[in-house]
Amino acid sequence: MLMDTKKKILITGGAGFIGSHVVRLFVKKYSDYAIYNLDKLTYAGNLENLKDIEEAENYSFVQGDITDAGFINELFEREKFDGVIHLAAESHVDRSITDPLAFVNTNVIGTVNLLNSARDIWKENFDEKRFYHVSTDEVYGSLGETGFFLETTPYDPQSPYSASKASSDHFVRAYANTYGMPIVISNCSNNYGPNQFPEKLLPLCINNIKNGNPLPVYGKGENIRDWLYVIDHARAIDVIYHNGKNDETYNIGGFNEWKNIDIVRLLCDVMDEKLGREKGSSQQLITFVKDRAGHDMRYAIDASKIKNELGWEPSLQFEEGMSKTVDWYLENTEWLEHITSGAYRDYYENQYQV
Ligand code: NAD
Ligand code: TYD
Repeated sequence: MLMDTKKKILITGGAGFIGSHVVRLFVKKYSDYAIYNLDKLTYAGNLENLKDIEEAENYSFVQGDITDAGFINELFEREKFDGVIHLAAESHVDRSITDPLAFVNTNVIGTVNLLNSARDIWKENFDEKRFYHVSTDEVYGSLGETGFFLETTPYDPQSPYSASKASSDHFVRAYANTYGMPIVISNCSNNYGPNQFPEKLLPLCINNIKNGNPLPVYGKGENIRDWLYVIDHARAIDVIYHNGKNDETYNIGGFNEWKNIDIVRLLCDVMDEKLGREKGSSQQLITFVKDRAGHDMRYAIDASKIKNELGWEPSLQFEEGMSKTVDWYLENTEWLEHITSGAYRDYYENQYQV
């Protein structure tokens, strides 16, 4: 049972990839907080991600759906949270192309449900309260060869996923303007690291290299992403939650741009070395496949605001992060096997027509 005197923080989506790292960081670092993890446990949510802290006395898990307004209201009424860090979302662009409504429901309506419930329990006194919305750089659209996304870059979402996240960001800002909600937003670049569901590029390739399966690279592999180690994102969220200013937006990025084809080649080389395979052998698995519809060309974050104002910078060099990530997937075979059974296999067959 969590003690009532503690500051109560609700983290949504805490069983997912990034959320699980945020939950772990907060549970371990802040013994004076009561951390509640609210997660529906969709295909992407996995309590195995949190095995090491599930018994902690300042941690509690609540299974629930943020699209269920009645349930969310009751939860807020009962627990009277002091803060919310909102990560629960449908997060995969390819799935948003097949089923956009699922993204509207969770990412837009789910966010508005949380905003309503937080506003209702806080409206008498917003002091010391905070609604932190975790968003993505994809809301800014696609860059050409030059330039960076700044906090002031106009929104120009191009996929159903990014359109739903952009919409949720707008609602969060609208609640600050209309009701005086104390809010903060961050927009982060692509994350990589332990516990990422293997439908996203890097864990998908790690799994396929391990098993000698094709590595599906969309189009010509020329698209560029800015990669950040997930634990550095969790550190940034901690810094922004505690020291960020109300109504502000902070861009978070890795200062680390890679063409897809180059990052896949690098991954092949790292895996060949770790698996004792001949250098170059995994690169033979690279297969160029049909491009994603409306595939954004380039994302790149200018993260100087969070660096200059809050002192955050990525802590890991990319090579070290990549090596740690590969080691984690090679050591946690059970985690991967549990995930790559059942429903995931159906999704994979459908997406890649294998
Ligand atoms: P994820 O898909 O791994 O995890 C999402 C979690 O939300 C899962 O645990 C899932 O069960 C839960 N969830 C989904 N629908 C829910 C619902 N209706 N009610 C309650 N819980 C629900 O996603 P992730 O990659 O960890 O991303 C987390 C957040 O960070 C998202 O808001 C995403 O937009 C944002 N983000 C992700 C990245 C990235 O590279 N992965 C980059 C920037 C921002
Ligand atoms: P992804 O991990 O889905 O993240 P996002 O689309 O949110 O950036 O994809 C990263 C990049 O890798 C993106 O440009 C699409 C590309 N990609 C492939 O080339 N093949 C794949 O099988 C997947 C899943 C992604």
